[in-house]
Amino acid sequence: MGVILVTGGTGTLGRLVVPRLRDAGCDVRVLSRRTHEPADGIEYMIGDLATGQGIEASVAGAGTVVHCAGGPKGDGDKARNLVRAASRSGVRHIVYISVVGADRIPIVSGVDRGMFGYFESKLSAERIVSESGLPWTTLRATQFYDLLLMVAEQMTKLPVIPVPAGFRFQPVDADEVAARLVELALGSPAGLAPDIAGPRVYTVAELLREYLRVRRRHRLMLPVRLPGKAARAVRAGAILSPERAVGHRTWEDFLAERVLNKA
Ligand SMILES: NC(=O)c1ccc[n+]([C@@H]2O[C@H](COP(=O)([O-])OP(=O)(O)OC[C@H]3O[C@@H](n4cnc5c(N)ncnc54)[C@H](OP(=O)(O)O)[C@@H]3O)[C@@H](O)[C@H]2O)c1
Repeated sequence: MGVILVTGGTGTLGRLVVPRLRDAGCDVRVLSRRTHEPADGIEYMIGDLATGQGIEASVAGAGTVVHCAGGPKGDGDKARNLVRAASRSGVRHIVYISVVGADRIPIVSGVDRGMFGYFESKLSAERIVSESGLPWTTLRATQFYDLLLMVAEQMTKLPVIPVPAGFRFQPVDADEVAARLVELALGSPAGLAPDIAGPRVYTVAELLREYLRVRRRHRLMLPVRLPGKAARAVRAGAILSPERAVGHRTWEDFLAERVLNKA
């Protein structure tokens, strides 16, 4: 299948995708904005998807692109630059990681965009991929435990934690997402794949309570009702995928390994 390019191969998800592709016998190239020494047979190329710099050289000769690069903003522009270069170089399969709810969070005001603009940019990237003319696969995942851990660490620095009332999450293990993404990348283009979500749905208070329990800390929580249509959609379950609770590892399992084993 030739070289597989992994954008975002240095990130939380991409770092788990790369060794799995290597183990499957693929030649892996990683795109990053920074220099990295080649290691374990992985070639690193410098490029910036936001500006387009270095992208043509990165996709040259790649049969498949697994697009894991992303950030809080501008994923539509990044996808556009990638797709343009990939179309010119004859990529045969582009695999994209998006987020559950990308198509269900309405962004109609500045308030919505300020808090949930990420979902709008993921939907825009999804459309750029699906309308690219390239054979494509998109997988929507729920929030990774790593992200929630980072948020929990920040929020619990406060003496009183504001908790978005009515918000529920169905987080998933990034390594389980990586395994599925690799399976999709090694298969035929599948269009929009079934979602991947974790085994349980939690309120924010439940997620934080478990984190505080393993950290042996106590904090007060204060429910806060967030304004806007996007927040209302989240309260109605737009970022959940209960029928696709295919992940096995729970938040409790993840915390036990990450926090307790390092304590
Ligand atoms: N985290 C979640 O809960 C979650 C849930 C569902 C979907 N997703 C999606 O999964 C993907 C990966 O998320 P993650 O949590 O693994 O992200 P992450 O840890 O923040 O890593 C982001 C990656 O994107 C690369 N990147 C960012 N901007 C770039 C640019 N302008 N040009 C080239 N590379 C760029 C970074 O590479 P360098 O810094 O090396 O340049 C890094 O490897 C994203 O598309 C995200 O939207 C994430």
